[in-house]
Amino acid sequence: MSQELFDRVNILIREIDTEEVVGAEAIEAFRIRYLGTKNIIKPIFGEIKNIDNTRKKEFGQLLNKAKQTAEEKFQTLKSSSEAADDGVKKADIDLTAPPRPLQLGARHPVSIVMNRIIDIFGRIGFTVAEDREIEEDWFNFTAMNTPEDHPARDMQDTFYLKDSDSMLLRTHTSSVQARVMTTQKPPIRIIAPGRVYRNETISARSHCQFHQIEGLYVDEGVSFADMKQTLLYFAREMYGPETDIRLRPSYFPFTEPSAEMDVWMGTETEEAYRLTKGTGWLEVLGCGMVDPQVLINCEIDPEKYSGFAFGIGIERSAMQKYNINDIRMIFENDVRFLKQFRSVV
Ligand code: PHE
Repeated sequence: MSQELFDRVNILIREIDTEEVVGAEAIEAFRIRYLGTKNIIKPIFGEIKNIDNTRKKEFGQLLNKAKQTAEEKFQTLKSSSEAADDGVKKADIDLTAPPRPLQLGARHPVSIVMNRIIDIFGRIGFTVAEDREIEEDWFNFTAMNTPEDHPARDMQDTFYLKDSDSMLLRTHTSSVQARVMTTQKPPIRIIAPGRVYRNETISARSHCQFHQIEGLYVDEGVSFADMKQTLLYFAREMYGPETDIRLRPSYFPFTEPSAEMDVWMGTETEEAYRLTKGTGWLEVLGCGMVDPQVLINCEIDPEKYSGFAFGIGIERSAMQKYNINDIRMIFENDVRFLKQFRSVV
């Protein structure tokens, strides 16, 4: 009988020693099992009466050892788990710490201006039409009534694709006019933002790539007055409610008559004087009534339909608005430049 009890306690000590205890809950369970008021060691003390007298003392010592082993293990577990908790509290979850500021990205000035213009025309029913930058000669030039021998086709201006005389990088977003008119029936009311390319020497004033927004409206009975009213609305949304515009006669192969629109900035402020070179008028876009030949090229009946179109240069507007004096900054993606537009949407 004695030996059996001795064996039982020895096994228990080994168990206490080797038991794996992980996590606060397991530590508490360990405490309750071996050290709590109803712990499993306590009742074994009652067995002392069954031990041979000669071994009673030895048995008592063994039981104390069990108790002590549990005690020591519990202390070690407790302090190491507190250390871990402490680590978490200090390093990761200080609930009183002020939040780290979010790193906000910035929109590119070209996107800012583009989105603004899309929004202004969106409010009067123009939807966005986007198309390819690598374009066929026909959509960029032929359909747009630009004759074979027109200087705009010259290799000086147009990037043709290698080994091709019919594929090119579009030189204007007017190619989207032809794309839309050959696939949609009037009424057509679209705005086409995008990148265009011209073989120009890169300088502070001009670049071989830039952005335009094309506008096209084709329906029955569309008049020059409709165009003027639409563009006046645009100018007032873009430059302020008092803005005046003027249309100067101009020439584009795909519009007739054609015009250039200026907005009145005045000469009073230093900035207005600088932007308008002292004239008070700022050149903003090219426009005109869609040439009937363009409609014919796209299989739209010019007897029934008429329309107007316009093209706005984005970089120029962005440079004016944000006082950027070198167009190259727009394409260099220098973060010091881009960061400045952080709070603008
Ligand atoms: N495509 C012309 C340009 O690139 C702008 C324009 C568009 C003019 C539509 C009239 C009508 O300069």
